[in-house]
Amino acid sequence: MNNQRNSSNSNPKRDSELGSLLHSEHLVTVEKLAVGGDGVARIPIKDRTMVVFVSKAAPQDELKIKISVVEKTFLRAEIVEIIKPSPARREAPCEYFSACGGCVWQHINEDEQLRQKELILTELFKKFIPEVNYALAKGVASPKNLHYRNRIQLKRLGAKLGYFKKESHDIVDINYCLIADKLVSDQIPIIKEKLKPAAELQKYELKLNHKNEFEYYRIGESGEGLSFSQVNNEINQLLVELVTKLVADKNPSFLTELYAGAGNFTFDLLKNLNSLRIESVEMNPELTKFSTKKLSELSLQKRLFAFTSDCESFASRRALSNEFILLDPPRAGCSDSVLKKVIEAGSKDIIYISCHPVFLARDLQKIFAANKNYKIRHLQIFDMFPQTDHFETFVHLSTT
Ligand SMILES: C[S@@+](CC[C@H](N)C(=O)[O-])C[C@H]1O[C@@H](n2cnc3c(N)ncnc32)[C@H](O)[C@@H]1O
Repeated sequence: MNNQRNSSNSNPKRDSELGSLLHSEHLVTVEKLAVGGDGVARIPIKDRTMVVFVSKAAPQDELKIKISVVEKTFLRAEIVEIIKPSPARREAPCEYFSACGGCVWQHINEDEQLRQKELILTELFKKFIPEVNYALAKGVASPKNLHYRNRIQLKRLGAKLGYFKKESHDIVDINYCLIADKLVSDQIPIIKEKLKPAAELQKYELKLNHKNEFEYYRIGESGEGLSFSQVNNEINQLLVELVTKLVADKNPSFLTELYAGAGNFTFDLLKNLNSLRIESVEMNPELTKFSTKKLSELSLQKRLFAFTSDCESFASRRALSNEFILLDPPRAGCSDSVLKKVIEAGSKDIIYISCHPVFLARDLQKIFAANKNYKIRHLQIFDMFPQTDHFETFVHLSTT
C-alpha cells in the first residue's frame, strides 16, 4: 500500500524527495519511545533530519529499518534487522506479541518501560508548561507485571477470539492473554468453544466482578454497556492510599470529586476523614447506583452527595469546592467548560489523576495560564498498565 499523502499546498520538489523515501532502508539508533509506543529515530534528508517512528523498537537499539509510511513531517518504519539490541531488549514473554495489537512493549524490560513513561511525561511538561517547576517522584511500578488486568475486551469473528492486530481489523486468535488475570485468561479457550462462530464482528468483555468471580458478556447486547472500573487492583490500591493521605494532610471540610466512577476514591476518603463532606459527580447511572447503595449501607447520607450528571452541567449549576477538587477524567481529559469552572473555583488544592499524559499536559497548561499561584506539590507516575505504553499520572496542585 502506498501511504504517501497528497496535499493542495504541496511543494512538488520536496514531495518527490519525500516520496522517494518510501521503502528505502536506513541505519538508525533509537533515541527513545513515543506516546503510542513506537521508537523515535532520525534520518538525515539533505540539509535536515526527519523523525521516523519505528514499530516494536527499544531505546538504544541499532537497527536497519525500512520506511513504510511517508508523511510531510514524519516517517514510519518497520525493523528489517536488529544490528545491536538495546540493553533493555528482551524476548517478549507472550507468543502472540509479534502479531497482537494488545501490548506494544513486551520486548522491553519493565524498569525501562517505566523510565520511558517518565521521559514521555517530562518532555510533554517541557513543551506545554516549560515555566512550571516540579519534582517527579520515583514512579510506582505495578506489583504485578503480568496477569494484572481484572478485565479485558476481546473481538470475535468466525471462530477467532482475540485482539485486533496493530492498526488493523484482523483478529489475532489467542488461547491466553498474559496481562489478563489468570482466572480470566484461563477462560479464553473455554469461551471460544462455547460461542457460535460469528458472521459479523462481536465484542466481549471478560472480567472478574467485585466478588472476584469470572463473568463475561457480549458488549452492546441486552443493555450491557461498558462501565468504568480500574483494571489493576494492586496498583489502584496504592493510588487510593496516596490520594487519601494527601487529602488527609490538608483536612478539608468539603471536597468536590469530578468523574467519580463507582466511588473508587470516595469511600476511602470518607472512612479516613471523619469531618469531610464530598459532592461526587459521575454520569454513568450504573456507577452512581453502586455508590448510592454503598453510601446508605455505610450510613454516609449526610457526608456524601453522589450526583448522576455530566460534570459539564453539574459545574454550570453548582459551585465547586474552593478547598479541594479531585479530578479523574477519561483519556481525553476535562472539557473546556469543566476546566473553566475548576479554574473559577480557585480551589486551594487540586488532585488530577490522568490516564493520558498529552491531555493532562494540555489541561495543566490552561490551569497554570489562568492561575499562577498553583505549585506542583506531588507528581508521580503509577504504572497501571505494564507491557503497554499507557500509564496513570498523579498530580497534586496547591496554592499553599
Ligand atoms: C477514568 S474514569 C475514573 C472513575 C473513578 N474515579 C475510578 O477511579 O474508578 C472516568 C469516569 O468519568 C466518567 N465520565 C466520563 N465523562 C464524563 C462527564 N463528562 N461527566 C461525568 N462523568 C464522566 C466515566 O463514566 C468514568 O466513570
